[in-house]
Amino acid sequence: MRTKFVAGNWKMNVDRAGAVALASALVERLGGVEGTFLVAPPFVYLEAVAGIVAGTNVSLGAQNVAAAANGAHTGEVSAAMLRDVGVKSVILGHSERRNEFYESNKAVNAKLRAALGEGLGAVLCVGEMRSHRLVGVTEEVCRLQLEGALAGIGAEMMGRIVVAYEPVWAIGSGSTPTPADISAVHSSIRSVLGRLYGDPVAAEARIAYGGSVGAENAREILSADGVDGVLVGGASLSAESFSRICAEAARVG
Ligand code: PGA
Repeated sequence: MRTKFVAGNWKMNVDRAGAVALASALVERLGGVEGTFLVAPPFVYLEAVAGIVAGTNVSLGAQNVAAAANGAHTGEVSAAMLRDVGVKSVILGHSERRNEFYESNKAVNAKLRAALGEGLGAVLCVGEMRSHRLVGVTEEVCRLQLEGALAGIGAEMMGRIVVAYEPVWAIGSGSTPTPADISAVHSSIRSVLGRLYGDPVAAEARIAYGGSVGAENAREILSADGVDGVLVGGASLSAESFSRICAEAARVG
């Protein structure tokens, strides 16, 4: 049985004091809760949060990474630098990066290689826009994103990758697909992974759902077939909501 995974993407929110307060409250609330939890603060607060979550069941994530290892890349932060400050995993392929910053599947693949090469894990986001869903190409879009992002990445790396299915239209909108719809896409993602890496690897792969997950719908979503965890945006900014989601994950097991 895979343990449920819960990740909080703080995006471009909180200030230093807020980051410290949120991380401290989470560590306290999640102390006795079983599971794998991840928080991804803005880069400038990574180190402050690292000091708070060190040695707890909350691990540190980053929201981006450079594809390059080092050198003349103004504004970029390398995987080695992230590892150096205590980051364990990076969120890649998020629709906000794809849409606002034009990150292609090729760019996501390069970043994924950089992260894995430094021993980091990754939360690899894929998902369709509303227009894709309306014309019935959701699974095709996810397949193309997966194939692009995972090109040249070996099966032995899949233990360090969580695939997050995030329908773009569900992010921050308050609307989600039905649990049955989520399960259908997760199952199709798992078959893509099966084709790429073989069924045993696909069976073990962790596939999380993201998009308008909150304390009120976490149980239903986490209980859906094939859902191994959730990636949370807005609701991860409240220690109460996020810890309730983590508690649901532990309970659903
Ligand atoms: P949301 O964001 O929970 O605010 O919808 C999810 C995400 O962007 O991962």
